[in-house]
Amino acid sequence: MVVRVIDVRVEDFSCDVVVVGVFVGKKVLPSQLKVVDEKTSGALHQVLQQREFEGEWGQSRMVPLLGKVKPRNVLFVGLGKQQEATVELLRKAAGLFTRVLRDVSCFADLAFLLHEVDVPGSREERAQAVAEGVLLGAYQYVRHKTVDLDKIKLLKSAVLFGKGIDGAVKKGVVLAECANLVRDLENEPASNLHPKELADEAVKLEKLGVKVTVHDKKSIEKLGLHALLAVNRGSVNEPRFVIMEYKGGGKRKVALVGKGITFDSGGLDIKSDESMLTMKHDMAGAGVVIGTVRAASMLKLPVHVFGVFAATENMPGVDAYKPGDVVKTFSGKTIEVANTDAEGRVILSDALAFTEKVIKPDAMVDLATLTGACVVALGGVCAGVMGKDKKVIDALIASGTVTGERLWELPFFREYHDQVKSEIADVRNLGIIRREAGAITAGAFLAAFVETTPWAHVDIAGTSWSEQEQEYVRKGGTGFGVRLLVNFLESFK
Ligand code: BES
Ligand code: ZN
Ligand code: ZN
Repeated sequence: MVVRVIDVRVEDFSCDVVVVGVFVGKKVLPSQLKVVDEKTSGALHQVLQQREFEGEWGQSRMVPLLGKVKPRNVLFVGLGKQQEATVELLRKAAGLFTRVLRDVSCFADLAFLLHEVDVPGSREERAQAVAEGVLLGAYQYVRHKTVDLDKIKLLKSAVLFGKGIDGAVKKGVVLAECANLVRDLENEPASNLHPKELADEAVKLEKLGVKVTVHDKKSIEKLGLHALLAVNRGSVNEPRFVIMEYKGGGKRKVALVGKGITFDSGGLDIKSDESMLTMKHDMAGAGVVIGTVRAASMLKLPVHVFGVFAATENMPGVDAYKPGDVVKTFSGKTIEVANTDAEGRVILSDALAFTEKVIKPDAMVDLATLTGACVVALGGVCAGVMGKDKKVIDALIASGTVTGERLWELPFFREYHDQVKSEIADVRNLGIIRREAGAITAGAFLAAFVETTPWAHVDIAGTSWSEQEQEYVRKGGTGFGVRLLVNFLESFK
């Protein structure tokens, strides 16, 4: 599907529908629709005057234009109260109505005036958000379907009317496409996406000018990433350790580190059927790192960014690592494995220490579907963020407000760090009070492997997967984090 900007009069543009935003108590017709209204004997005005259509969020009214002008319909979309409206609301409206217009109305050519409503933010920001919403809302994962293919509706084009918003729309398109790539990776069955295939996705970025280094098992042994190797022991599929570098300018080096568990069975501490069912997406952190580096290079951002991820399955094989084992890590510190299902933090211990010691970035952010405890605490509404560097954390939180991928900071007091000390090794991969503060003790465990680098950990366990359709968030993998991290890279100075 193409999303583009067009600078023509609305009445002269052939399309199935023109989507127009309306606020409660401010049901005014945009000037661009004046001629359309005149040529349809005031049909648009009439609808706006109806008392049943107040402009509440979620309300909409379709007005057929009966062949009097080129567009076939106008869709008025209620946006609620103007004082409460944000750019994120436009993204949501664009996502929701794109999906409804395609799947319910069976329209293929959409046009938008949504970005013309007055909400805080520049025209460019509004146009970018609408472009993102359209593409994110239109996402569907249908590659494994073989029957009733004719029932799958496809969009042909979406246009935004206007001038001077080309760059913003192109940016929105890149960001949404990169997030959709992450959704594809999260949704892909684990038996099709092993560490090797995940690494291959990173290698594809070479043609965008990204330097990509892939370490296979032998090379990982040479590097001494023994924690990654320990988690890999139960799997017949070899691990990968991947480093991407995009050098677009800027003095500071930022490293993004991702958890790439391509399937989390729990290992010998095996998960229940219910908890295991969605564990193909336990590589979301690594996926987001790939998606972000891809977006940064496509947008030619003036930043120097490293994308690092450790990838393996967590399986209960004959040689699987065992509860009670002690694992020596790249950093030299030892881990007591109290539970093989707390594997994400084990592989990240190597990824973080390696990144700090070898890449030496000025700032480091890791993303991981790390804990069920984070899902319990925050659900899918926002991700948890924690760490020891206020600047990095605040910059991430601010970016999340802009992109609609919200973060909530969790406390990181000394007592939590005490809870992951081990009696027989240096750290334990489970808090001593098992059911308490699981998201934070997981973060505290990671903190033991970061010495001085400004660092933050983002737990995306709740936000990377959705069991419900939301406006521009589809069921399944969400791609949460790509737009957030791109905004962070642009704003973090
Ligand atoms: N991958 C899971 C965390 C997870 C849970 C991600 C739900 C997405 C949705 C992680 O490896 C895990 O199993 N964590 C355990 C840790 C526990 C054993 C300390 C958990 O949260 O139950
Ligand atoms: Zn696990
Ligand atoms: Zn996991």
